[in-house]
Formats: sequence, structure tokens, C-alpha cells
Amino acid sequence: MKNRSGLGVMMGLIGLVRPLILIMLAAIILGCIGNLFATFITVLGGYGLLNVTGINDDMSLSFIFTLIAIFAISRGILRYSEQACNHYIAFKLLARIRHEVFKALRRLAPAKLDGREKGNLIALITSDIELLEVFYAHTISPIMIAIITSIFMSIFIGRIYYVLGILALLFYIIVGAIIPIINGRIGKSAGEAYRREFGSLNSTLLDNLYGLDEILQYNVQDKRNKIMLDKTDKLEDTMRVLKYNENVQKNITDIAISLAGIIFVICNIYFVKNGTVTLDKAVISTIAIMSSFGPTAALSALSNNLTQTLACGNRVLNLLNEEPVTYENVNGKEYVDDDVICDMVDFVYDADSKILDKYTHTFTKNKIHGIFGKSGCGKSTLIKLMMRFYETQNGTINYGNNNVNDIKTKSLRKHVAYVTQETFLFNDTIENNIKVANNDATHEQVIEAAKKASIHDFIESLPNGYDTVTGEMGDGISGGEKQRIGLARAFLHNSELMLLDEPTSNIDSLNEGIILKSLREEKKDKTVILVSHRRSTMGICDDVAKM
Ligand SMILES: Nc1ncnc2c1ncn2[C@@H]1O[C@H](COP(=O)(O)OP(=O)(O)OP(=O)(O)O)[C@@H](O)[C@H]1O
Ligand SMILES: [Mg+2]
Repeated sequence: MKNRSGLGVMMGLIGLVRPLILIMLAAIILGCIGNLFATFITVLGGYGLLNVTGINDDMSLSFIFTLIAIFAISRGILRYSEQACNHYIAFKLLARIRHEVFKALRRLAPAKLDGREKGNLIALITSDIELLEVFYAHTISPIMIAIITSIFMSIFIGRIYYVLGILALLFYIIVGAIIPIINGRIGKSAGEAYRREFGSLNSTLLDNLYGLDEILQYNVQDKRNKIMLDKTDKLEDTMRVLKYNENVQKNITDIAISLAGIIFVICNIYFVKNGTVTLDKAVISTIAIMSSFGPTAALSALSNNLTQTLACGNRVLNLLNEEPVTYENVNGKEYVDDDVICDMVDFVYDADSKILDKYTHTFTKNKIHGIFGKSGCGKSTLIKLMMRFYETQNGTINYGNNNVNDIKTKSLRKHVAYVTQETFLFNDTIENNIKVANNDATHEQVIEAAKKASIHDFIESLPNGYDTVTGEMGDGISGGEKQRIGLARAFLHNSELMLLDEPTSNIDSLNEGIILKSLREEKKDKTVILVSHRRSTMGICDDVAKM
């Protein structure tokens, strides 16, 4: 996993904003004006006071009050518009990032997702992307707003007396940059620890839910319970550290702001005494500095979450930039039905020991081929290589004259039906679950496929038949029934080549007989390659290859 610097992550995330740059600019401008109006409401109050006491009557009282009223009302509208812009950007971008993440997942599937913990992926899709809202809505424009308003106020105060202007700038930098950066550094490990513990607690919870049957069966509730409680305690500890840091940060920021006020008063007393600054200007500059820390103080508070936000951003960017194991072949050749020829195929996953070593075999067309071999010898791997989920390191897999790597991915998937060792059922009707393999199929075709897979009678016996929703059945569908639905999909897919990875491992011999008979009937114009440990299955094969 790549670890970008904080700035690197920010740049990567900001890169995604480009299409919305005008709205972002609007948010920044509205935010700057709004914050300056807020500051100047207090400053105008100061002028009002000076007017009443007769020290300065540059502006009439009615003019001052009119301005205050305009500023106050505008402030509300500006703030609302700024937030509307920011959230428009944030939610547009979240939608876009989600879209990109799903696109990345499609690109990476299936090989890269094989080895991934599903819990982590779920966390990434849900909470990580969600946390980026903070970045887009409450990070980019506040930083820009703080910089612009601070420069404006420093100039405003500097026009009274340049030393005061420099002092103001110095305090803005302390509150808006130095304290947040130091705080961010100190809080970094606590923030990371919190995310880590949070993720770990989530995984444990999922583990316990998935493994509920095993936990009850082997009576390990107490042990699993203790693991959960330990993780909860750890999470609480990291949370305490986080909250402590947050409080310290808040207090230090408050102290810095108060200090700015005190130093301004002391300096102004000195400057008034030696005649450099008039009393009215001294009052105005002090009020101006005290009422203008809003944007910079907001940055200080931001630094508490920034580490976490950036860590999420880093994970999301990593996924978006991850290279797939095989790229989709878009411009390649069409699949042509022919023999499947494996020639001197070598294959390893990562740096493991060789799974396939110079594997050579020709699966001639319009026959049923059986592959058998001990568990872990690479049967499923060979099938995945035929689907080009992975590419061979040495040697070739050809469909007739065409190397599998040169065939258009869409064409390959259209013409080859692949039934994996585990069938996944969507929470949808059984009919739609079978139609996954061919959305245009008619009801009659679905029934025909189900009959071939020997699952039609079972489906008919359900209260709602083909309209039964699988989710409502919960665990009420057996492994063998699932497997037969997977086979019905393959029959419906109606492709020239069927790759079946242990298609009947959970099916009784009676049903298996029906399925094998269907396969035999199919082979007239189809090639079937099936992996199995069973002698009965191997019995129907025209050709058996041992691995
Ligand atoms: N994605 C993967 N990454 C790393 N190793 C893997 C991966 N998938 C499988 N393996 C390993 O490769 C070897 C071959 O696996 P494969 O699934 O091809 O075996 P198999 O012959 O189908 O076994 P079985 O009969 O149990 O299904 C096994 O040792 C397995 O642990
Ligand atoms: Mg296998």
C-alpha cells in the first residue's frame, strides 16, 4: 500500500475537484466576504462607541447602524450560500468517487479481489468515502478563506500602523498554521490508532456474526466475547487520547487568541502614549484583531480530524490507482469455438511455489473433458487461466489459433460459461437469479435450463415458485440447490464452452445423474470441461486428465 504525504493526498483529492472549480471559487469568495462582514459588525460597533463618546465622528450613527444591519443580514445569506456551494461540491464529488471506486473494483475483479478482506472493502466504500465529505465541504475552502481574510485583516490593521499589521499577521499564522500543524503531528499516531482499532473491532464483529454457528457449536462464546470486550476497551483508550488532544488544542488556541488581545492592548497603550497611534485607531485595531480569529480558529479545530481524513483519502486513492492483474482486452479478436490447447503452462500466485509446471493438454471440442487431482493441485487455477482472470507466466493457452490473451474479454465471457465452486445468489427472485446468465431469456427458456440442472421440481415446490425471493429464504436453501441454480445459469448462458468447477460436489447421485445426462445431450455442439473428485462424474467424460 502506498503511503502518500499529507500534501500528496490533498493534491490527489483536489485533483478530483477540477470540474467543479468555479463553484469552489464561489464558495471561497462568499466565505471570505461573509467572514469579513462578521468581523466588521464588531468593528463598526467600535466606531459607534467612539461616535457616542465623541472621540471619532467620521461616520454618523445612522450610517453605522445601517451598515451593521446590512452586514448582519448578508452574513446569514452569505454563510448559507457558502455552505450550499461546499456541500454541492462534496456530494457531487462523493458520488463521483463512489462511481470511480466501483469502476476500479470492476477493473480489479476478480483476481485482485480474491485476496482482499471483504470487511475492509466495505469500510472503504462506506465510511472512508463518507469521511471525505469533511475534506471537500470543510477543509479546502476554509483553508483558502482563512488565508485570504487574514491577509485582508493584516492590511486593514497595518494601515493603522504597520507594526500592528505585522503583529496581527504573526498571530494569524500562529493560530491558523503553527498550532494546527503541531497538533496534527502530535495527534497523528492517535488518529491512526483510532482508525485501526475501529476497523479491527468491525472485522471482529463481522467475524462473530459470520461464525455464529461455529461459536455455538464449539461453545467458545466466552472467548469470543472477551476478544470483543478487549477491542472495545482499546478503542475507548484511543478515543480518550484523541479527546484529550482535542481539548488541549482548543485551550491552546484560546490562550493564543487572548494573548493576541493582551499584546495588542499593551502595544497600543505604548503607541498612544508616544503619539504614534491615535486613541480611536488603537481601539479599532484591538477590536479588529479580537473579532477576526474565526476563520483561523476553525483551521485549528480542523487539524483534529485531518489525519483521519487524509488516511481515508490515501486508502481511496490507493484503490483508484491500483493496477489490475489483467487488463480488459477491448480491441482483441472475437472468440472462435475451437479446441482449448494448454502448452507448457507455468503459473505461480505471487512468489509462492509453482502451482502449474509446464502443464500441457489439449481439450478437443465437442467433448466432455474431466480434470481430477488432489485438493490444491491447481485445478481451479487452470480454469481461471482459461478465463484469463490471471495470465500464464510461461507457456500459452490457446482457443484454436488464438491466444487467450488476444481475445476480447467481453467476447470470451459471452462465449464461455464458467461455474465456480461457490454459487452466489443475489437477493432477488429465483427467476432473476437464473437470468443473471442471460437477461433476455424467456420464462420458458429459464424453465428449460432449470430442468437441465435438475432444479425445476424444487423451484416449483416453493410457495411462490420462480418468483420466490432468495433473501426471504435465508439459509433455507441448501448447498446443492444453490449449486444447481449455478448450473441452470450455465445452461441458460448457452455458450459453446462450459467450464464447470466441481459442479456436482454437493449434489446427490440421483440429481447428478440428471445433470450429467443434460451435459451429455449438450455436448453435440458444446465443449464441456469439468473438474471433479467423483468417479461417477468422471464416468461420463470422453476424456479424463489427471493433474
Ligand atoms: N488467489 C490466490 N492467491 C494465492 N494463492 C492461491 C490463490 N488461489 C489459490 N491459491 C493456492 O493455489 C493452490 C491451487 O489452488 P486451486 O484452487 O487451483 O486448487 P484446486 O486444485 O482447485 O483445489 P480444490 O480441489 O481443493 O478445489 C492452492 O495451494 C491455493 O492455496
Ligand atoms: Mg478448486
